[in-house]
Amino acid sequence: MPKKALSQTRPDFNLVFYIFSFIITCVMRTDALLARFGYCSRREAPRWIRAGRCAAGERLIQSPAEKVEPADMLVDGEPVEFPRGLFAALYKPAGFTCSHREGGRLVFDLLPARWLRRNPPASMVGRLDKETTGLLLISDDGAFIHRMTSPNRHLPKTYEFTTSSPVPKEAVSLFSSGRWKLEGENKPCLPALLHLRGERSGFLVLREGRYHQVRRMLASVGAPVLTLKRTAVGLLSLDVLKLAEGEWRPIDPAIFD
Ligand code: URA
Repeated sequence: MPKKALSQTRPDFNLVFYIFSFIITCVMRTDALLARFGYCSRREAPRWIRAGRCAAGERLIQSPAEKVEPADMLVDGEPVEFPRGLFAALYKPAGFTCSHREGGRLVFDLLPARWLRRNPPASMVGRLDKETTGLLLISDDGAFIHRMTSPNRHLPKTYEFTTSSPVPKEAVSLFSSGRWKLEGENKPCLPALLHLRGERSGFLVLREGRYHQVRRMLASVGAPVLTLKRTAVGLLSLDVLKLAEGEWRPIDPAIFD
């Protein structure tokens, strides 16, 4: 190929670099930033700034219109929390509901209140039943939540269970067959891995997330669930995270790439 034609096929390095740096250094007005990350409303921002609570590195911010990169911003001397988007893992205890609004104890009672004041607010990545314990992901990144919960994603999720009656051994092949149908549904479940540790305990790995799926699958073979705990989502597990019940930790979303 002639030299000129070859160079025309290469991407313009400067342009790629410019787009990349624009994406990662997304500067914002200070008032918008305070509201985006849940510190205060845009209307309250001038008061925060006048009180000297906001800085960009060593420089005190003087005006709500001043533009700052979120990762450089300090509020009350502390770096802005999750400046590139909120990604966290929570070890959900039993008795907490995965909802923003319902009555009773909510998973958000276990998380910093500011997370709900972010815009967009923190949300659950999928849900666990009120009595299910285990790994629950939390994020404010709509694209991430959509990617993770998309029915085409087939990300493996591992659930440890105990049941009130023995699980029949045949359930292992039934669940892995890709032909097992849940009551009231026409579409068979995707092949699922069932491992029995004892007569009434084991784990189930699912690649989809239907309503009460583990409970319904085990009930359908005569083994109602007593306890249910999600121990892993993809490569991320409670063991690796070393979380105690009710605790949360930031995570790197790249683990799901
Ligand atoms: N399957 C269930 O039955 N419940 C959950 O909470 C998660 C998966």
